[in-house]
Amino acid sequence: MKVGIEAIAFDIPKFYIDMADLAHCRSIDPAKFIKGLGQVEMSVASPCEDAVTLAAGAAIKMMHGFNIDKESIGLCVVGTETPIDQSKPIASHIHEILGLPKNCRVFETKHACYGATAALAMATDWILSGRAQGKKALIIASDIARYGLNTAGEPTQGAGAVAMLISSNPRLLELESNYVGCYSEQVMDFWRPTYSKEAFADGHFSIQCYLNALAGSFDTYKESFKKHHSDAPEILNNRFAACLYHVPFVKMANKAHHKLIEHELNTKIEKEDPRMEDVQRDFNERVGYNLKLNSKVGNIYTGSLYLSLFNFLEQNSERHSGRAISLFSYGSGCTSEFF
Ligand code: CAA
Repeated sequence: MKVGIEAIAFDIPKFYIDMADLAHCRSIDPAKFIKGLGQVEMSVASPCEDAVTLAAGAAIKMMHGFNIDKESIGLCVVGTETPIDQSKPIASHIHEILGLPKNCRVFETKHACYGATAALAMATDWILSGRAQGKKALIIASDIARYGLNTAGEPTQGAGAVAMLISSNPRLLELESNYVGCYSEQVMDFWRPTYSKEAFADGHFSIQCYLNALAGSFDTYKESFKKHHSDAPEILNNRFAACLYHVPFVKMANKAHHKLIEHELNTKIEKEDPRMEDVQRDFNERVGYNLKLNSKVGNIYTGSLYLSLFNFLEQNSERHSGRAISLFSYGSGCTSEFF
């Protein structure tokens, strides 16, 4: 049986901040945010918006845009790290707002920016196991990224939600459940205790944690792939038409792709190395053009990877039809998945 994404849509607030304006207010060279981090604009939620309204907005757009029958949905999971309640899940509000069937299972998942990927993996297994009995899963990633004023994390905020319908009719993207790599480790790179509305990050350490997790999950992905294909050299180079990453800020995807190329070749490629030109070209060809939305929306935590996927699908669904692409999901703390 096939399984994957049948429909996708996203929603963001109406308001945004131009990164040059933020830089001027903070007396920082705008080039640091625009070139250094790769961010052009940043979505800002208004006081009447939260992770529920954004999730509902994305889900309604998806249901209407793809003409989805709400009776077909048997599972509704919202991945978020900015819920509005410690007990009541956002999915429960979505259930009411969309008028989903009473026999639909609803709940919320959390592991920093990985929450929606956990939901996606669970939905995939639910369908493949046959327990879905023909029903579909609505998976929503919804978050408002918020750091303290004047902190290093401030220019990497954002707000938005991505809704995806997972079914045995994966007309947009088929998910390969056989090949998957995970990596987890207890690290204090980014956290938000229950008393705080703002996240705390050990910024530069968090970048290292992300890159370690990427290498670790790629290694276990390769092991799972090689079980089925014994002769598969340079999987990164030969297999994927595009590589999508969790995008806390655009430059992070650049660092990630660079790291993965080095990891696969088992060599360091420093800035002055002539091979850097090839790394940058490969980044432009397989990663860069899928980051336009991320550069204008900012970090939407668990939806970031799927915003990049939306960008990819919108531009390339015909050109790359039938080809494999890779996705890397990272949740601080940390856990990660390469699939
Ligand atoms: N012109 C051009 N570039 C400039 C510049 C200028 N005037 N000034 C600085 N830069 C460049 C720097 O060289 C640097 O580029 P490189 O990384 O390529 O060297 C870049 O701009 C950023 O500069 P700094 O490293 O000095 O910036 P910083 O220390 O103020 O903070 C940050 C950067 C650590 C990412 C910070 O924004 C942060 O803490 N963000 C939140 C944490 C985060 O996003 N972590 C990512 C991994 S964890 C994760 O992915 C989970 C998640 O969603 C949070």
